[in-house]
Amino acid sequence: MPVITNIEDLRVLAKRRVPRMFYDYADSGSWTESTYRANEADFERILLRQRVAVNMEGRTLETTMVGQKVAMPVAIAPTGLTGMQHADGEILAARAAKRMGIPFTLSTMSICSLEDVAEGTGRHPFWFQLYVMRDRGFIESLIDRARAANCSALVLTLDLQIMGQRHKDLKNGLSAPPKLTLPNMLNMATKPRWCLGMLGTKRRQFGNIVGHVQGVDDMSRLSEWTAKQFDPRLSWDDVQWIKNRWGGKLILKGVQDVEDARLAADSGADAVIVSNHGGRQLDGAPSSISALQPIVEAVGDRIEVHMDGGVRSGQHVLKAVALGARGVYIGRAMLYGLGAMGQEGVERALEIIRNELDLSMAFCGRTNIRDVDRSILLPGTY
Ligand code: FNR
Repeated sequence: MPVITNIEDLRVLAKRRVPRMFYDYADSGSWTESTYRANEADFERILLRQRVAVNMEGRTLETTMVGQKVAMPVAIAPTGLTGMQHADGEILAARAAKRMGIPFTLSTMSICSLEDVAEGTGRHPFWFQLYVMRDRGFIESLIDRARAANCSALVLTLDLQIMGQRHKDLKNGLSAPPKLTLPNMLNMATKPRWCLGMLGTKRRQFGNIVGHVQGVDDMSRLSEWTAKQFDPRLSWDDVQWIKNRWGGKLILKGVQDVEDARLAADSGADAVIVSNHGGRQLDGAPSSISALQPIVEAVGDRIEVHMDGGVRSGQHVLKAVALGARGVYIGRAMLYGLGAMGQEGVERALEIIRNELDLSMAFCGRTNIRDVDRSILLPGTY
């Protein structure tokens, strides 16, 4: 087992262990992948100011996100097909989040269901991500199930009414269960533990959807279903309807534009996530970290601003917090940990991020994450 010291080590290990179709599904963006690359690269332009002779004892990373206590300002982002990176993937990632004292967000398009995750974590509260679909009755049933599963926040994704084109998935013929092509079979024959949700403690496919919508029993049918079901007419009225129906903490995900952020604040939601879906939707859009600051300036006094996209280290978290993010979400950093080493890998990813965040904050002369602001950044670099 190689020594794992950073998220890149986990990525390399995951690439070796996860069947290519599913590794590529995680580690890719849409079209030219320019936004996907910018999400990470733009963090590096922002420079930190090191301070010396400052008392660094008694540091804390504790804060709140939508009023809920978190051990550090990090949550796990919703990712579809997580159970394809590792058997029982969503349950394992949720358990890791619970151990580390941070929120786990379950995707609508997960392999393990809301009920599986509730049961697998001893009914520890988690967050549920909802896509807006044409079938309002189905949305209502998902909201009711999320409430029954003890979910303590609803993350409503607004940037996937239609899907960005992801070349790698098209070339790999992404499907679940995987089509039995020779490379797939060879790949999977040697890596059963990392293969599939259906090799977990139960046979599972799309736990939130199978059995609730007729005819969805595999991925090929599912992609057709997605195109038919995801609602291209989504509007702010729908957001209001979902907010009223849910009645709890509501986080709106996928906002990049200041004007949309203002509308999100007007809607009465509790938080907005500045996100470009990890560079998987509109390629050519700005990186999330560069979109963050104008949105914080426009609505930061009315609504919590969160962000995701390209976060691969504790320093990235620190820079986002310095620019006004109340919390950040990790998608691929979690998936790499999961694909590399299951629950232990997700915990490792979170420990790496926590330690980097703690040390970098101290180098910048702060002992409390709540005191981190733009003054820790070098002017002219953000
Ligand atoms: C996602 N994302 C996502 N978002 C969402 O709201 N619902 C979903 O089902 C998914 N599915 C999904 C699958 C995979 C494989 C990835 C990589 C991402 C987007 C996700 O929540 C988040 O916005 C990005 O992952 C953040 O970027 P990083 O941390 O992956 O760079």
